[in-house]
Amino acid sequence: MKTLIRLLVDTYGPSGFEDNVRDVIRTHVEPLADELHVDAMGNLFALKKGLGAGKRIMLAAHMDEIGLIVTQVEDDGFLRFSGVGAIPMKALMGVRVRFANGTLGVISHDGGAKPEIAGKTIPDMSRWFIDVGVSRKEDLPVGVGDVAAFVRPFQDLGQRLIGGGFDDRIGCAVLIETMRRLDRPPHDVIFTFTVQEEVGLRGARVAAFGMEPDIAIAVDIAPTGDTPRPELPIALKLGAGPSIKIADVGMISHPRLRQTLETVAREHNIPYQLEVLPLGSTDAAAMQATRSGVIAGAISIPTRYTHLPTEMIDMSDVENAIKLLIAFLQTADMPE
Ligand code: CO
Ligand code: ZN
Repeated sequence: MKTLIRLLVDTYGPSGFEDNVRDVIRTHVEPLADELHVDAMGNLFALKKGLGAGKRIMLAAHMDEIGLIVTQVEDDGFLRFSGVGAIPMKALMGVRVRFANGTLGVISHDGGAKPEIAGKTIPDMSRWFIDVGVSRKEDLPVGVGDVAAFVRPFQDLGQRLIGGGFDDRIGCAVLIETMRRLDRPPHDVIFTFTVQEEVGLRGARVAAFGMEPDIAIAVDIAPTGDTPRPELPIALKLGAGPSIKIADVGMISHPRLRQTLETVAREHNIPYQLEVLPLGSTDAAAMQATRSGVIAGAISIPTRYTHLPTEMIDMSDVENAIKLLIAFLQTADMPE
C-alpha cells in the first residue's frame, strides 16, 4: 500500500489540474468497479453495486492539492503568483515548486530573508516570487496562468510517513484499498474522487447533486494537536486511530451517522478519535447541503503539519480507517 501512496503523492495535481492523478486512480479502480464515469468537472465515480434494497452511499476523497498560479512575469524572469487553495505563507521561503511541464523553481520574496522583513509580519502575497533560474522574460518556460505544485518528497519512516500532499491523496489511497478489500456490500457504494476541494469544495458539490446519495462520507485529513505547544487546541493524535468528525467550521456531522460509525468501530475493536476542528472543512460540508439535504459525515486521517512543505501521517491510522469503512459498509442498518 505504501507503493500506492507514494505514487499518488508524487503525481502532479493542483486544484483544477487533477488529470494525472485521475489517470493513476482510474487504472487502480477500473478492474474493481461495476461502472466508472467522469463528470464535466472531472470528478471520477467508481460504482460498486450492492446486493439490492440497500442505500446509496457516497465516499469522497479529493484528488487535488494546493499550489500556486502565476499572475504576472517580471522583465528579469521572476514570476509573481497567487495561491490555489490555502497557502501557509510563513513556510514558503526557499520551498521548491514544480510546474506541469516539469519546470522547477524556488520561492523567495522582496528583501530576501532579512529579519526586519521576514520577522514579525509575513509579507503579503504581492511581495513573493518564484525564481525558475532564467534572467530574461523571453527565456521563461512558463507564464501567466501556469500552476505550480510544491516539491515535497515522500519518505518512509516505517510506522510513519513524511511527504506532501497526504491532503488528500491518502484519502484517495484509503478509498482504493477499501474498494479492493470490500466484498459485495448490501448497499450501492459510489467511490468518488473529487476535484477542486482546496478552492472551495467545488467538485464535491456537483458530484453529490448528480449522484443523489442517501449517505455521504468524506475521507480526508485532519490536523492534530499532539506536538509541543500546538497552535490550536485540537484533541487529535497521530497513531490513535482515524477520527470520526463531529464538527468543523463548515459542517456538523449528522448525529445518527456519527453514532453508527462509533458503534461499528467499538463492535470491531477499531480505535478511533472524535474530531472537532476550529479550522477548515471537507467535501462533506458540500455533500451535506445539496438537494434537500444529505446525511453526511467524515472520517479523517490525523496529519501533522497540514499544508506545510512536509506532512506526517501514521500507517496504523490509515489501516484502521480502511477497517472502519469496510465494517461500516457491511452494516445493514443505516441511519435514516
Ligand atoms: Co487541504
Ligand atoms: Zn483535504
